[in-house]
Amino acid sequence: MIDSNSQSLADVYERVRHVVTEPEWQLFAPLIAEINRLKRERSAVILAHNYQAAVIYHGIADITGDSLQLAAKARDAQAEVLVVCGVHFMAETAKLLNPDATVILPHMGAGCSLADSITAADVLELRARYPGVPVVSYVNTSAAVKAVSDICCTSSNAVQVVESLGASRVIFLPDEHLARFVASQTETEIIAWSGECIVHVEFRADEMRALRRQYPEIKIIAHPECRDEVLREADYVGSTTGLVDYIAAHRPPRVALITECTMADNVAAEFAGIEFIQPCALCPYMKRITLEAVRDSLLSLQPQIEIAPEVAHGARQAVGRMLGVAPGVRR
Ligand code: 13P
Ligand code: SF4
Repeated sequence: MIDSNSQSLADVYERVRHVVTEPEWQLFAPLIAEINRLKRERSAVILAHNYQAAVIYHGIADITGDSLQLAAKARDAQAEVLVVCGVHFMAETAKLLNPDATVILPHMGAGCSLADSITAADVLELRARYPGVPVVSYVNTSAAVKAVSDICCTSSNAVQVVESLGASRVIFLPDEHLARFVASQTETEIIAWSGECIVHVEFRADEMRALRRQYPEIKIIAHPECRDEVLREADYVGSTTGLVDYIAAHRPPRVALITECTMADNVAAEFAGIEFIQPCALCPYMKRITLEAVRDSLLSLQPQIEIAPEVAHGARQAVGRMLGVAPGVRR
């Protein structure tokens, strides 16, 4: 967790200078100072996903992490205003878990291809096709989909959540690649949906093999939203925070983080001496959150996340059951 109130601009610059040029910093520094002032005035807390730009992650965030950590910390945050620097499903999850807070997503266009791949009506059809089979929804879904699911999971607890149900088979949605990875780790039969993350499907096995040929000692660590052919080439598979934990535990001299590539910029500041080598894939949704958008949202307290009560009840139960199985705060 970062307490940016106690960080000077000079400290922030030290952490981002490897990815921010001097002229860019002249533009960013006053915005960072303004946001940190507004944040105090508004009694706001800023949560930032690991994929957010370095100036957001290191400059203004109070809480950083993967989807599970952000959910757990949003629930526990003692603040009137939560600004979610992430994507829409993350802001909805924060609102479900902390309904009295004003939850702001600085750009409503910050969506997710996985969340867009399935509707509540699709889930009800699956339920009709497989009566009695429990539904596990990845948190990368809308609140409406969560509301018709039994339990949620994230990439860090998916196997644990599936096994917690004690069922011989489960419907697992919407990411077909995460579903295949989970199926490889459990005896439970997995009935999958056919959603994909537009970012992680970009990676291919031949790129991984080329990396190994060029750097024989490299550690390749990948997010489970990647294709099976990529995961088979990886030394470790885990959530975004799982990947950071792997680096902290193993300190490989060279690592390829096979996930959204802004994350390497953020993590590199914590691991001086480790060389990050990777093909770059950017999440266009995450990148809709900019310092300007955050500043404007703190000035106007808009756009706010609202969830209809009839949806919120079931969705909150599904997320709450997940946190009962996997409480979520690890680092
Ligand atoms: P994590 O839960 O691993 O942070 O993943 C979120 C996400 O959107 C990955 O693309
Ligand atoms: Fe969604 Fe993929 Fe972007 Fe994550 S990286 S928010 S799964 S589109």
